Amino acid sequence: MRYSSPSSKSIAIALALVAPSLALPGMSSKSPHLSRRATPAVGDYVAPGPNDVRSPCPGLNSLSNHGYLPRDGRNIHATDIITAMNDYLGLSATFDFLQTFGAGVRGAFVLLPGLSIGLESYDALTNSHNKIEHDASFTRSDVFFDLVASGVDPKSIDNNNIPPMHNPPVNTTLIDLLVSFSKDGKTLTVDDIADARHARLQSTVAFNPTAVLQSEQTGGLWREAGFVSLVLGDANGTVRIDWLRDWFVNERLPIELGWKKPNAGIFDILSYANTYEAAEKVRNGNNVPGGTPELPIQFGSVL
Ligand code: HEM
Ligand SMILES: *[C@@H]1O[C@H](CO)[C@@H](O)[C@H](O)[C@H]1NC(C)=O
Ligand SMILES: *[C@@H]1O[C@H](CO)[C@@H](O)[C@H](O)[C@H]1NC(C)=O
Repeated sequence: MRYSSPSSKSIAIALALVAPSLALPGMSSKSPHLSRRATPAVGDYVAPGPNDVRSPCPGLNSLSNHGYLPRDGRNIHATDIITAMNDYLGLSATFDFLQTFGAGVRGAFVLLPGLSIGLESYDALTNSHNKIEHDASFTRSDVFFDLVASGVDPKSIDNNNIPPMHNPPVNTTLIDLLVSFSKDGKTLTVDDIADARHARLQSTVAFNPTAVLQSEQTGGLWREAGFVSLVLGDANGTVRIDWLRDWFVNERLPIELGWKKPNAGIFDILSYANTYEAAEKVRNGNNVPGGTPELPIQFGSVL
C-alpha cells in the first residue's frame, strides 16, 4: 500500500477524539484557567512582575527569579536563604550561615509569623543604606543620584537618613562600564575586576558628595567582587562576560550558557575579599577607602 499523508479530514477526526479528553471534570470551556499561564516550576526563570519585590543583591534576586526563594520577594526565611545558597550556588553551609548571620546582625532580619527569622521583604535590604546596601555598586546607581534624578534637592539629602527605596533598578550603563575593563573582550579576570572596582569607587568618591565609605561599607565591596569571581569564575577567578551579563542584567543564573555551580567554602570568599582589598590598595596609593577592615572579617560584616 502506498503511504499517504493524513488528510485534513482525518486530522479533524483525530482532534475531535482528543479534544474532549482535554477538558477536566468541572472545568467549563470558558474556564479562565485555560488561558492563564501555568505556575512556573521551581528552577524556571521568570523575571519579576509588577507586584514582586527585589533587592539590590543580584545573588538573592536570581534565586527568587528561579523560584529557589519566594518569587514575590516576601517572607523569606533565613533558613531558606542558607539552603538555597547551598543547593543552587554551590556555597558551603558554614559560608551561608555566616553570610546570613551577618545580615541578621546588621538588622535586616525580623521575626516572621511562625517565629522563624527572615526578611519581611527584600525592601529590608534596600532600606538599610550604609548598613548592608552601600554606594559604589557594580549594578546600581548610588542612591544619591537616584534621588536627584527623581527631583529631590541634592542639598537636602542626608546619606545617613535615606528614605526607603523599593526595587532599586539595575543600571546597565554601569554594567557596560564593568565589562569595558575586559582585556580580551570575552572574560573579566580578577585583575580586570579589580580595575573596574577601583574605577567605580573613584567615581563615587569624586561625584557623590554624600558617600560614606568606611570599612563597614567598603568591606562589602571586596566581598561582593569576590562573589563574582567565586560563583561565576573558573579556577583562576576569570569570569565569562556573557555569564556575567546574564546574571547582572537579567538576574538569571547562566545555566543555559553552561554555568555550573561551584563548590566553594568560607575561606574562598575570604581569600577573594582579601585579594580585592589588596588590589585596591595597590591602585589607590597604598590606601584603602575606609581603612583596612580587620580580616578575617568581623561578625556583622560577613556580607
Ligand atoms: C544572606 C544572603 C545575602 C544577603 C542578605 C545579601 C545582601 C546584599 C545586599 C543588600 C547587597 C547590596 C549592596 C550594594 O549596595 O551594592 C548585595 C550585593 C551583592 N550581592 Fe548579595 N546578599 C546575600 C547573598 C549573596 C550571594 C549568595 C551572592 C552571590 C551569588 C551575592 C552577590 C552579591 C553581589 C555580587 C553584590 C554586588 C552587587 C553590586 O555591586 O551591584 N549576594 N548583597
Ligand atoms: C546609570 O549610570 C550612569 C553612569 O554613572 C549614569 O550616567 C546614568 O545617569 C545612570 N542611569 C540611571 C537611569 O540612573
Ligand atoms: C589558571 O592560570 C594558570 C596560570 O596562568 C593557567 O596555567 C591555568 O590554565 C589557568 N586555569 C584555568 C582554568 O584557566
